[in-house]
Amino acid sequence: MAENKYIDEPTGTETVGHEWDGIEELDTPMPRWWLWTLYATIIWGIVYVILYPAWPLVNSATEGVLGWSSRGDFAQEMEAREKELKPIRQALVSTDINKLSGSPELMQTAIEGGRSAFKVHCVQCHGTGADGIRPGSGYPNLNDDEWLWGGDLEAIEYTLIHGIRNPDHEDTRFSQMPAFGRDGILTSAEISDLVSYVRNISGKEKQSASAQRGAALFQTNCALCHGADGKGDRMQGAPNLTDAISLYGLDRESLTYTLTNSRYGVMPRWGHRLDPATIRMLTVYVHSLGGGEASPALEEVAQETLEDIPAGSDGADTADDAAAGGGGEGREDVQS
Ligand code: HEC
Ligand code: HEC
Repeated sequence: MAENKYIDEPTGTETVGHEWDGIEELDTPMPRWWLWTLYATIIWGIVYVILYPAWPLVNSATEGVLGWSSRGDFAQEMEAREKELKPIRQALVSTDINKLSGSPELMQTAIEGGRSAFKVHCVQCHGTGADGIRPGSGYPNLNDDEWLWGGDLEAIEYTLIHGIRNPDHEDTRFSQMPAFGRDGILTSAEISDLVSYVRNISGKEKQSASAQRGAALFQTNCALCHGADGKGDRMQGAPNLTDAISLYGLDRESLTYTLTNSRYGVMPRWGHRLDPATIRMLTVYVHSLGGGEASPALEEVAQETLEDIPAGSDGADTADDAAAGGGGEGREDVQS
């Protein structure tokens, strides 16, 4: 065939050498730019396969000499973010928990970090709004200002680290209401009277003969933990029974169950699962939800400084008296 090739006169281009019924074909060469582009893509392809993961194998792919992976890329990004956060996390842990509010930057990071950690670890029990999933579930609403074990930063942090009635740790918050009915401590008639009394002091039922009998039983059987006035005791995690807030429900049926069997609410401890900075973030977040309380120690200091100001302007003698009085009042406030 090659011998039939010749240069076509009008175009100056070589023919391919075939001929069909007098029709011949020109062998027009590829344009230069096109060829170079083709070579460039081939070279790029080869270099890519050498440097980056490319050929799929059974379980993975060829790795490439650069060792790059999208997962590694992500890990690196996370690491960079972690590095950025590290000083803040360290500052969070090393700052006295009651002084955190002095640093708005720390507070903001803590609340944001706490909010996302809450979504991962706490919503399954406390609900996405931290409102306890549903009334009567036994999971406390963390937005209100009723606290079983204490609502200042230190108390909340303690609860988070050690958990509540957590069987694997001796420092856990612990108390156990007796199962008055099941264990035969009270008869079902007595329990019914106590139910009337509890409903009466929580504003659900009018005063009655049954509630009055219940009041007497309450003083002998319940006041030890719930207080003579039924307002509860945080040392024992015993709830206030005189308001409308309830863990397990204030209808007669729920109350009868509570008194007969006791409830024994358990919360896992987080001290061994989460790092101290995350615990602190959660603490600040929970505290920020609306029901957070000032620490007793701080309240006392604030009280004293308040009392000091007018006293100082009056004269030295009265200043001493006022300061002493102020301190005493401060402590009373804390206990009530
Ligand atoms: C397995 C369910 C469960 C999980 C998960 C859980 N909690 Fe709790 N939590 C409870 C229960 C139940 C109580 C009430 C225990 C009681 O009766 O004293 C409680 C009580 C609390 C209290 C004490 C409230 C008070 O009034 O003193 C705080 C604070 C708290 N949880 C915060 C958290 C945070 C923050 C997380 C996530 C790190 C979390 N909880 C995860 C079940 C849970
Ligand atoms: C040893 C302490 C203790 C004693 C005694 C005790 N309680 Fe309790 N009570 C608790 C604790 C702690 C809880 C919190 C619930 C739990 O166990 O998870 C509770 C919960 C309750 C609740 C549920 C409140 C709610 O929010 O739903 C009621 C009602 C109640 N107690 C009534 C009584 C009555 C009535 C008596 C006396 C017959 C009594 N308790 C005796 C410690 C005690």
